[in-house]
Amino acid sequence: MASVPIMTPAWTFPEFSPVGIDLASAEAVARYDRNQGTDAARDRALLDRLGVGPGTTFVDLACGTGSLVVEAARRGADAHGVDVAEEMLAFTRERAADAGFAVSLHHAGFLSYEHAGPPADVVTTRSALHQLPDFWKQAALLGIARYVRPAGLLYVWDLMFSFPPAEYAEHVQRMIDEFGRPDGEGFSRADFEAHVREEFSTYTWILEGLLDRAGFAVEESAFPRPTHGEFLCRRR
Ligand SMILES: C[S@@+](CC[C@H](N)C(=O)[O-])C[C@H]1O[C@@H](n2cnc3c(N)ncnc32)[C@H](O)[C@@H]1O
Repeated sequence: MASVPIMTPAWTFPEFSPVGIDLASAEAVARYDRNQGTDAARDRALLDRLGVGPGTTFVDLACGTGSLVVEAARRGADAHGVDVAEEMLAFTRERAADAGFAVSLHHAGFLSYEHAGPPADVVTTRSALHQLPDFWKQAALLGIARYVRPAGLLYVWDLMFSFPPAEYAEHVQRMIDEFGRPDGEGFSRADFEAHVREEFSTYTWILEGLLDRAGFAVEESAFPRPTHGEFLCRRR
């Protein structure tokens, strides 16, 4: 069911016009899916870790091409995928139809999604919270806290910075050198350069503060690279 904001103040962040990688056509979305490299084993491992199973109310925010939300539906969850890009939702819809599982898809964003029905047991968001500036990340997390049940889980994976701030230039350059692929073989150097220049990845210690102030207790965190990391949190 579509969920579209009706009236928003003029100062609201324009989340339906995200910056970054072009996702405005079916070809661009298919290219994104290839670059992202869907990994069903990784999706299953995450859902196991979060205890997603039959009857879980599960929401994937910024679901993209939908591998995680379809995998959640496969195991019997009440699975909701939310994204601001119609083309991403179309790809996810097709993925779910091919797999033969029902997912509820919502054309909405971190800030505008209005969850209906039972509160969520588990909310995930991968590679997307950086779409919002920090002020709006806080607003988004406060919003999520309103529809996650007490003791429910929030999982965040993103490009986030755990390096010492004074060393930012070398770490950013190292990430681009290490992860940038030739055209057609994955996300390019230009994609990573644009990410740092135009998107809103932030420091892990800022994210910790935002999560805490939104009512989430961080239970686990891991920063496998100085530029990538995750938080697993429980709603207080
Ligand atoms: C890099 S992709 C990640 C997609 C998916 N989570 C994954 O791991 O493959 C970022 C996604 O965020 C979506 N997006 C951007 N801004 C958003 C917002 N404010 N709210 C929800 N989704 C957003 C984009 O349309 C895109 O699908």
